[in-house]
Amino acid sequence: MEDLLKSYVLSQETYYQIRDTISQELSLGLSKSCERSSIKMLISYVQNLPTGREIGEFLALDLGGSNFRVLLIHLNGSPSAFRMESKIYPLTDSIKASVAVELFDYIVDCVDDFLKTVKISHYPVPLGFTFSFPVIQSGLASGRLVQWTKEITCDGVVGEDVVRLLHEAIQRKKTLQVECVALVNDTVGCLMSCAYEDIQTYMAVIIGTGSNASYVEKVRNIEKWQPDADETSDEMIINTEWGGLGDNGCIDFARGPADYIIDDRSLDKRRQIFEKMISGRYLGEVARLVLLEAVKANLLFHQPGRLVEAFTKEYGFLTKYLSEIESDTGKTHSKTRRILTELGVKDLTYDECSLVYKICRVISKRSAYLCAAGIAAVLNNMNRPEVTIGVDGSLVRCHPTFLDHMLQFTKKLINPGINIKMRLSEDGSGKGAALIAAVSIRKMH
Ligand code: GLC
Repeated sequence: MEDLLKSYVLSQETYYQIRDTISQELSLGLSKSCERSSIKMLISYVQNLPTGREIGEFLALDLGGSNFRVLLIHLNGSPSAFRMESKIYPLTDSIKASVAVELFDYIVDCVDDFLKTVKISHYPVPLGFTFSFPVIQSGLASGRLVQWTKEITCDGVVGEDVVRLLHEAIQRKKTLQVECVALVNDTVGCLMSCAYEDIQTYMAVIIGTGSNASYVEKVRNIEKWQPDADETSDEMIINTEWGGLGDNGCIDFARGPADYIIDDRSLDKRRQIFEKMISGRYLGEVARLVLLEAVKANLLFHQPGRLVEAFTKEYGFLTKYLSEIESDTGKTHSKTRRILTELGVKDLTYDECSLVYKICRVISKRSAYLCAAGIAAVLNNMNRPEVTIGVDGSLVRCHPTFLDHMLQFTKKLINPGINIKMRLSEDGSGKGAALIAAVSIRKMH
């Protein structure tokens, strides 16, 4: 068992080494030789944090990895007077694997459907588009998709300006009076929405289907970007896209056999190496592969015929099982037993249950600690004395110990003199997109 898990139980030294590697990649990503870094460090064109006094009615679209959400947000001049209405639409596998026109027509159909259910006071409605994928922006409301992540493959979007694709679909619909004024990554939205409530928020992290972080950087440190001569703000939110960490091999020393298998079988091989070790899209699969190793080593489910589909089928063991299994605080492992029974494994011994529990715990803890290494690297580079970090995503929300493990370990890895808080963001992506739209309109006037 020890042997099996040793690739996933990393020493404190290894985590220090990962943190320092991330620190270097973050700095390299801002430099003129940024293409040598596996962390893209994308310019968000969001330079002003909200004041809390924003006013107006905004639509927000939130296209992430699993769902698509349309929101109507009313900013009424203070965080306490904030109101919003929203509706979730499914993002089916067939849409995720379709073509640009189909995806964007679907998005616009959903907006149209949503607008029938709400009351708008002014047209055209300004819209903030949260598009949670790596985009090279050329301004606040334009940007080309670098690559799909989170196993989406929709054709004809990579390399294109996603705001143009959205506006073309809006025009095809004819009757729709909306205008996209801001293109936003979900982590940037999360940062903005947390900063709306807590002015010391300078960083946001998402660990959901994918994982990523953004933070506030000094413009003078962004060697690869030249501000316009009339630019007054000396800060810029950087979307790190840390999920791509390791695409150049820099964290191979920390990868285990399951990480290599997952990457090999994925739709975007040799990309998003860090994301594949930590995020919800992959974590269940990491656990399944380790569980399978335990079966092969005769440590689990010895009797013939007990190896069920959940363990033999790729992605058959869901990330949410980790959260459920690990919330078994009593020593009876009743939840583990129930889940495994539902999956078809019967007559489990106590030892088998505790082994499954242990494997899940090792895998989720490694993810939390790796995120902590990433957060600490950003904080150490940023070097601000007090920072609130906005956090969101299914793992921090649904997993019983993830957030705490991440927080405690981040505290171990940050430089002395930095004090941190983590704050769960409420509806960050949509609310943040509306705030960015509001701030941008304020700037225009
Ligand atoms: C993936 C995307 C990134 C997003 C993250 C969380 O890593 O590339 O843009 O922020 O998932 O949704």
